[in-house]
Amino acid sequence: MRTTMNVLLTGNNLALRAGERPVPVPGSDQLLVRTRALALNNADLAHGGDERIAGYEFSGEVIGVGSGVDAGLVGARVAGTTPAAFAQYVVVHHRHVITIPESVSFEDAASLPTALLTESGALSVAGVGAGDSVLITAAASGIGLIGVQLARLMGAAPVIATTRSAHKRALLERIGADTAITTGEQDLVAAVLEATAGQGVSAVLDHVAGEMIAAVVPATRLGGKIISVGRLGGSEATVDLYALAARQATLQSVSYGFTPPETIGDLLAALESRVLPALADGRIKAVVDTVLPFADAASAVERLGSGQALGKIVLRMP
Ligand SMILES: NC(=O)c1ccc[n+]([C@@H]2O[C@H](COP(=O)([O-])OP(=O)(O)OC[C@H]3O[C@@H](n4cnc5c(N)ncnc54)[C@H](OP(=O)(O)O)[C@@H]3O)[C@@H](O)[C@H]2O)c1
Repeated sequence: MRTTMNVLLTGNNLALRAGERPVPVPGSDQLLVRTRALALNNADLAHGGDERIAGYEFSGEVIGVGSGVDAGLVGARVAGTTPAAFAQYVVVHHRHVITIPESVSFEDAASLPTALLTESGALSVAGVGAGDSVLITAAASGIGLIGVQLARLMGAAPVIATTRSAHKRALLERIGADTAITTGEQDLVAAVLEATAGQGVSAVLDHVAGEMIAAVVPATRLGGKIISVGRLGGSEATVDLYALAARQATLQSVSYGFTPPETIGDLLAALESRVLPALADGRIKAVVDTVLPFADAASAVERLGSGQALGKIVLRMP
């Protein structure tokens, strides 16, 4: 086997650029994966800090295992999330991957782990179940598109999705949103109250933060849960605590970047019973905007930064 591999580097305020690094060796509890596809996330646009291998999301085939890992996993098709993923070979904790159903391509699979982990985690923190009404803001974001589908899978109704771009509404409705709202053109609270018979939603999965947090409080039903998942509009928010109290609402913030590895493993394992079968039979679908060759990472970064993408941007490995 080769001793060096092609990678994409970040850090020193420079965008993704090609480099070469030694092939990693799997440690205890780790898999060695030959990657087949990589997916971009907003976090990949933060180029600060020391030079390092970029990326988090990947799919590929297990080609080796460290101590304490079942050697029977060699040959498995997996997708996962781990730092230093933008490389031909990745080492990852054996519980930080999902097994890819046969019907799902490597390109689609690479786009899923962060969204499945984050959105299923947030829906579970919100306690969303059958019959709950859910509002998902910036629902056309990579993770929001999976959040809408997972909420439906859990039996939530109605599922209400927001976008700032009218041309993205059709996509939101196609993936299962009962109501799509164009913020900036429609009154958010009025539209949510109309869709919920005046009650407001049981849960909000918010990907915007900034002014959106205060805006969704009056769209929340009595005792509702507001889960802050993303901060696309800035991480600082001013909330009127009287307004929150009037709705007896709970505001909770989640970040799976700060979640202990053990809990990440538990959250991914919990996908096996209900979500992976739905992925296999197409009830949950990856939404991929563009697949580009690994050598064209610059175009991938440009597309991600444009805000025009309808789904995830994926790099195919040579
Ligand atoms: N909590 C966690 O563990 C976790 C995990 C992963 C990601 N995140 C966070 O979740 C957010 C979404 O990530 P992503 O990678 O899925 O995003 P993404 O795919 O890059 O989403 C971009 C889309 O979000 C919308 N958007 C962008 N800026 C906005 C703003 N200021 N206000 C409203 N909408 C805005 C735009 O769609 P429209 O045209 O429809 O407005 C844009 O196309 C990010 O903040 C990310 O850091 C959190």
